Amino acid sequence: MSIKKPELRAVDSPNQPITQDAHEAADDARVGWEHFQQLMEEDKRVEPRDWMPEQYRKTLVRQVSQHAHSEIIGMQPEGNWISRAPSLKRKSVLMAKVQDEAGHGLYLYSAAETLGTSRDEMYQQLYTGKAKYSSIFNYPARTWADVGAIGWLVDGAAITNQVPLCRASYGPYGRAMVRVCKEESFHQRQGWEILYTLSHGTEEQKQMAQDAVDRTYGPALQMFGPPDGDSPNSQQSMAWNIKRFSNDDLRQRFVDMIVPQAEALGLTLPDPELKWNEERGHYDYADLDWDEFFSVVKGNGPLNHQRLAHYRAARDNGAWVREAAAAYAAKQADATRGSALLSA
Ligand code: 3HC
Repeated sequence: MSIKKPELRAVDSPNQPITQDAHEAADDARVGWEHFQQLMEEDKRVEPRDWMPEQYRKTLVRQVSQHAHSEIIGMQPEGNWISRAPSLKRKSVLMAKVQDEAGHGLYLYSAAETLGTSRDEMYQQLYTGKAKYSSIFNYPARTWADVGAIGWLVDGAAITNQVPLCRASYGPYGRAMVRVCKEESFHQRQGWEILYTLSHGTEEQKQMAQDAVDRTYGPALQMFGPPDGDSPNSQQSMAWNIKRFSNDDLRQRFVDMIVPQAEALGLTLPDPELKWNEERGHYDYADLDWDEFFSVVKGNGPLNHQRLAHYRAARDNGAWVREAAAAYAAKQADATRGSALLSA
C-alpha cells in the first residue's frame, strides 16, 4: 500500500525555486499536521490513509515489527515441547497455542505493512539479526513445567502489556491487539492449569513447577522493558498515545496481579523482598538484574544464537513452499485471465 508522505517544507533546498507543486505539498502537509494533532488531542485513531509525522511512522514500525518478530521467535520454546507434551490432549492444546502465536505474528506484520514497510524487509531484518525481539525467548524451556510457566507468566505479562495497546492510536495496531489479547487470555489459562495440576501432584511435580517459576519470574518481569529512567522511547510513545502506561507502571501492575495468583497455585515467587506496601497500595519487589537484561537484548543471552539459527533454517527450508505457492497463484491468475478473455 502506498501512503502519501508530504514534507512540512515547501522546497527541498533554499536555492530551489518554489514551484506551485511544492506550495501545494506544503499546504497538504500543514493540513495533515493539524489533523494529526487534533486526532492526538481528541484521543482518536490514526488510519493508514492519514498524514502522520515520519517519526510516528518509524516508531510504530519499530514497535510493531519487534512485536511481530517476538511472536514468531516465541513459537520456538513451546514448539519444542509439542511432541513431548504428556498427553494427546496437552499436545493438541499446545499445538493450537503455538499456531495462534504464528497468527499473531501475521496480524502484526500486516499492521506494520500498512505503514509502508514490506513484509520481506521485516523478515530480512530478523533473518540478518538486525531486528530485536523480546528478551524472554532467549531462555530455554527445560521441563514440561516451563510450558506452564511460559503460559502463566510470559503470556500473563504479554496481556498486561497488550491490553492497553488495544487503545493504541494507530488503528491497525490497536485492532490487531484486540484479537491477540483474546487469544492470549486463553494461553495464560492453559499455562495456569498446567502449573496448578503439577503443584497439586507429587512432590517431584510440585518442585518441577516451582523451579520453572523460579527461572521464568525475572525474565518475565523484564519483558516490560528497561526501567522508565532507561527507556528512551516511552515518553514520546506515550505522548502519541501508542503506549498508554510506562514500563515500570505495567511491571508493577503485573506484580500486583501475580502475587495472589502464586498463592492460589501454592507456589512461591522467587523474591524475598516481595511485600505489600500499605502506603503505596502496591507490592514492593526487588530490583531486577538489568545487566543481564541488556546483555540478552544485545544478543548474548543463553539461546540468542540458537533461536536465530533455527529461524534461518526454517526460512531457508521453507523457501520451496513459498515458491510453489507463488507459482500456483500465478498459474491460477493466468487461468482466470484466460477464461475472462474467452468469455468477453
Ligand atoms: N526485549 C528486547 N528488547 C527490548 C525489551 C525486551 N523485553 N524491552 C525493551 N526493549 C528494547 C526496545 O525495543 C528498545 O530498543 P530500540 O530502541 O532499538 O527499538 C530499547 O530496548 C529501549 O526500550 P524502550 O522502553 O525505550 O522501548 P519501548 O518504548 O518500545 O518499550 C516495549 C518496549 C514495552 C517492549 C514496547 O515496545 C511494547 O510494548 N511492545 C509491544 C509488545 C511486545 O513487543 N511484546 C513482545 C512480548 S512477546 C509476545 O507478545 C508473545 C506472546 O506470545 C507472549
